[in-house]
Amino acid sequence: MCGALRLSDAGKKVVLMGWVNRRRDLGQIVFVDLRDRTGVTQVVFNHELNAAVHQKAESLRNEFVIAAIGTVKRRDADTINPNIPTGEVELVVEELRILNVSKPLPFLPSDTVLANEEMRLKYRYIDLRRDAMQFNIELRHKVALAIRDNLAAQGFFEIETPFMTRSTPEGARDYLVPSRVSPGSFYALPQSPQLFKQILMISGFDKYFQIVRCFRDEDLRADRQPEFTQIDLEMSYPQPERVWEVVEGFLTAAFKAAGHEIKTPFPRMDFDDAIRQYGIDKPDLRLPAFTDVGDCFAPDELQGLAINKDLPVIAIRIPRVGELSRKERDDIKPLFVAKGGARVFEDFKRIENKFPEAGTRVREKVREKAGAAADDLLVLVVGSAQSGTTGDAHPANKRNIRVTPAEMAIYASAGLLRVALAQKYSDRHQLFQKGDYRFLWVTNFPMFEWDEGERRWNAAHHPFTSPHDEDMDKLETDPAMVRALAYDVVLNGTELGSGSIRIHRQDVQSRIFHALGMTEEEARSRFGFFLEALEYGTPPHGGIALGLDRIVMILAGADSLREVIPFPKTAAAKDLMMEAPTPVPEGQLRDLGIAVVVKK
Ligand code: AMO
Repeated sequence: MCGALRLSDAGKKVVLMGWVNRRRDLGQIVFVDLRDRTGVTQVVFNHELNAAVHQKAESLRNEFVIAAIGTVKRRDADTINPNIPTGEVELVVEELRILNVSKPLPFLPSDTVLANEEMRLKYRYIDLRRDAMQFNIELRHKVALAIRDNLAAQGFFEIETPFMTRSTPEGARDYLVPSRVSPGSFYALPQSPQLFKQILMISGFDKYFQIVRCFRDEDLRADRQPEFTQIDLEMSYPQPERVWEVVEGFLTAAFKAAGHEIKTPFPRMDFDDAIRQYGIDKPDLRLPAFTDVGDCFAPDELQGLAINKDLPVIAIRIPRVGELSRKERDDIKPLFVAKGGARVFEDFKRIENKFPEAGTRVREKVREKAGAAADDLLVLVVGSAQSGTTGDAHPANKRNIRVTPAEMAIYASAGLLRVALAQKYSDRHQLFQKGDYRFLWVTNFPMFEWDEGERRWNAAHHPFTSPHDEDMDKLETDPAMVRALAYDVVLNGTELGSGSIRIHRQDVQSRIFHALGMTEEEARSRFGFFLEALEYGTPPHGGIALGLDRIVMILAGADSLREVIPFPKTAAAKDLMMEAPTPVPEGQLRDLGIAVVVKK
């Protein structure tokens, strides 16, 4: 292979096959960097040694595929390339076969400047030839293999579940597949194998896993693709801690396969604490938590600054960013997504101007309480004096358990601003170090979320999640206060996976459907088979699913899933290479009993 030869191979006669990565024609000598998946070797065509081969080499162009037969030679000392493993040798070619030619390419795998993304996706096979993509795809392979081996060693069976199935409620839209033999009926591609894996527990396969493709028709972002891969697992009789142990086990193996050691067990945090300390349910632990600095101000100072004294006064600290210039302060305003009555307060000068005597003292107190070093940036997020403190009595206002909606508005806005600031100034604060992996379990999520549009409760995770035993009596009377036995595993601010202990009793499952506003008939028509299965001796069970793509993305240091998925889709869910989706011939639609109505 092109990455294999070393000094110890000098003198051997070998054959290398690969692509012409780069060609340098020095007249009497032609150098070619020959590339395959393992690396590059310099091959040399020397007119003096072999005029016929040299002449043939003159016709080589970028990305021609060749076989070069020759003898490995030690390079002269001044031509050694210390940057590549084969850099001490070259192949002096005696025979050249051109296995295939290439048209001039839209971009080259060896280009140092990346082609635009549209080109990269349209010509994905060329893009995938690039070192970085070869590295990412190999990494993905190694990580998946390590996870598979680890789960098998932990006693899990890999079991496949159908792709042509019925809708499972994970909250996104389904991709539908029309049935030809049952016109007007559709299969749904699975958003996850959730119901099948629970059925597998009822079937006696007490430890199941699958590295499985899932399909969701939802708005796409850098960390979301319409088809993606889950590491999905389920087990019988676990406490949450047992599921976490399994996950920590396979993540340790996966990160080791990528050359990183991680520490287990991961820290754990209650959902409520995550909101209060980080304003988000997937805290990035590389950055400091919030500090409530309300008590650094006297009541009249808060009033004078139109800050609501009954709401948190959140200090966001971003280490080593320094004071912001006026322009920078203006730049951060768009980063602030004001929710409810939340307001950003980035200018301490205003405090000093308004309260010439107390201003400096307040500033010092705030900095001290927030633990700010001299070069740390502090930004405050506060409630406007006009904003209410508790909101009205609407059930939605209780959805985050012990956090009121007005507080939530501040926490959530501060949470988003904290991450946006950290990203914007990441080159200054050096907190995002490569290889710094801060895992976290977030637990005790609320069971329900209020859907204002539909004016009803939705399952925050999915409707098969078990409520806490102690909260069962609130299911009907106070759904907002019910906690779920649900957990997320978070890494550096990204949700890697979600899971829960499930409901294993039919009567409890019915109560949940009822709490979600589903009638008995609706529940039966959507999940009848499942409700029935629950009645035939279902063991307690629970599990989790992690996004493989997200794990590999983080390990690769990439900022989009597209960098670690061989054939990804664009933000408009298109495959630019295959040009999918496409219209289909009229006859095919007729066979399927489908008429297309174009929405205006
Ligand atoms: P959930 O819907 O939270 O849970 O998904 C689990 C994990 O899958 C990944 N993921 C995605 N990755 C890329 N693109 C997407 N569109 C996408 N959607 C989800 C995320 C996420 O954390 N059945 C439950 C799991 C369970 O309860 O066992 C489920 O699917 O990393």
